[in-house]
This record gives sequence, C-alpha cells and structure tokens, in this order.
Amino acid sequence: MGSAVDLSVSLGTFSLANPVLAASGTFGYGLEFTPFVDLNRIGGFCTKGLSLKPRMGNPAPRVVETAAGMLNSIGLENVGFDRFRDEKLPHLQMYDCRVVCNFFGDTVAEYEEMARALSTLDRVDALEMNISCPNVEEGGVQFSADPKTVEKVVSAARRATDKFLVVKLSPNVTDITVTAKAAEAAGADAVSLVNTYVGMVLDAERAVPYLGNGNGTGGLSGPAIKPIALNMVYQTSQAVSIPVIGLGGIRTAEDAIEYIMAGASAIQVGTANFFDPRATMNILDGLTDWCRDHDIDKIESLRGRAWKQ
Ligand code: FUM
Repeated sequence: MGSAVDLSVSLGTFSLANPVLAASGTFGYGLEFTPFVDLNRIGGFCTKGLSLKPRMGNPAPRVVETAAGMLNSIGLENVGFDRFRDEKLPHLQMYDCRVVCNFFGDTVAEYEEMARALSTLDRVDALEMNISCPNVEEGGVQFSADPKTVEKVVSAARRATDKFLVVKLSPNVTDITVTAKAAEAAGADAVSLVNTYVGMVLDAERAVPYLGNGNGTGGLSGPAIKPIALNMVYQTSQAVSIPVIGLGGIRTAEDAIEYIMAGASAIQVGTANFFDPRATMNILDGLTDWCRDHDIDKIESLRGRAWKQ
C-alpha cells in the first residue's frame, strides 16, 4: 500500500472531497445513479437544469450518437422547483456528496427568482447557473452570447443568493474568456465550461434534420469535443481569478488530469455517464492510481501545471 493521496480541492470558499463532479443533464437528480455510484464517494453532482415550473422539453428524437460523441436536444425537461424540493431533495439527505443545483430561466427575472428560491434549501451546497443551453428558443445560450447580457443576468442571480454561484458558459462564442470575465465581474464565484457545441445530424434518406427540435439542431458533447474544450479551459483559467470547473469529453482519469493541468479546479463527467454509469467512480479511482504512480501527494498541486511559465 502506498501513502494516501489527498484528492480534496478547494474552489475559494467551496470545498470538495475530490474534484469529480457529475455534469448536469447526465446524472438525473443523483438518485437515479445510486445503483451504480456511491454518492458518498464522488465530490458531488449537478442536477438536471431546474426551472420554477416543470417543463416537458422538446419533441423526440432528442438524442443521437455521433462519431466519438452525441448530440442532444432535450430542451431542459425537468420536474420544476416544487417537485425537486419535495420529492428529490429529501432523499439526498442521507448522502455526503455536494449537491449543485443547475438552474435556468427564460428571463433575467426568472433567473433571479430561481436563485432566490434555491437559496432557501439547506441541502443545496452550490448553484450552477445555466446560461448556455443551445436547445431552447427563449433564454439558454442567448444569455451567454455577449458579455453585457452575461453581466446583467449573473448580477441578478448574485443579488438573490449567498450560495456559491457557478456560471456555466457556452463554447458557442468567439472568445470564451470574454464571457468568463463578464461573469466574474458580475459576482460569479466560479465558472464551468464548456456546455455543448451547436451541431446537426441529417437523416439522409428523408433529407431532413434527425433531431425533433424545431430548428433541427442539438448540442454536441463527448470525447469528440475534448481538445476544443480543454483549450478553452486552458485559456480561461489564465484569464480569470475565480476557479474554473472543466468539462467536455472527460472519459478517463487521464482526461481529468489534463483538465486539472490546464487549470481546472474540479472537473465534471457528462456524456461518459451514458455509456458507463460508473464513469465517475472509475475516474475517481483512476485519479488516486495516477497520483500514486506519479508521486503526487496532493492533486491540487497539479492545477495549472501546463501553463506557460
Ligand atoms: O436541452 C437540454 O436540456 C440541454 C441543456 C444544456 O445543454 O444545458
């Protein structure tokens, strides 16, 4: 037995037992994964994006596999605030991991109202503000599109909550460091990047888009996007002073190590949960092994190691 590896990380005032979080939209409300994942072991998970009222999402088909990835057009289907509070959250009391509530609104006022409502829930450890969903007509990625809108909507949520506030950014912009800086200026405690890339799959037999979403598009995720997302994390973590949470195509412990070396304080595992529901646990075990094999006592010492000196 080698010596213990310290996997704990701190993101300013928010600490995690380890850097492994499950990404929003790939892990339900956590409870669905308890047959596969010990929620006492992973650092935490992000809930499916929550809104004040329940939402049905977009028409099917809503998911399609692509080369080394997938495209989704779910449309932010969720149970809504009341059912989350009453039917999901009580069952999460028995687990140790951090619960990060991903949330969104159609308007700035709704973001503010949702941040205020979630602040009343003790079991919720942090909020992840989703301003980057590419699959809805109102809200979503439009809020991530330009720095002024980012500042406006993040400031509104900041006014409404004292909880640790993460802002999830869209990669569908010219320069993600600009929107990250806007989120920081508006009071975000951290940024998470990236959400999915807008894409399309065609049904060649019928010459129409495959996905049922009105405009035929969806969000691309999975290993296919990893090099692009990793570069965005590398650039952004050197451009802002707040912590960066990295995601995009993380499948193995080595992928997670790359993100941490690129400057991520924590990582999120998303699409991998669909093809391996134990992915978060396997990555967690793999991080310990990797650190041991490389004589790393504390995983935080790897953060930003790949930055130019
Ligand atoms: O369509 C969806 O529910 C996706 C959400 C997201 O990418 O944030």
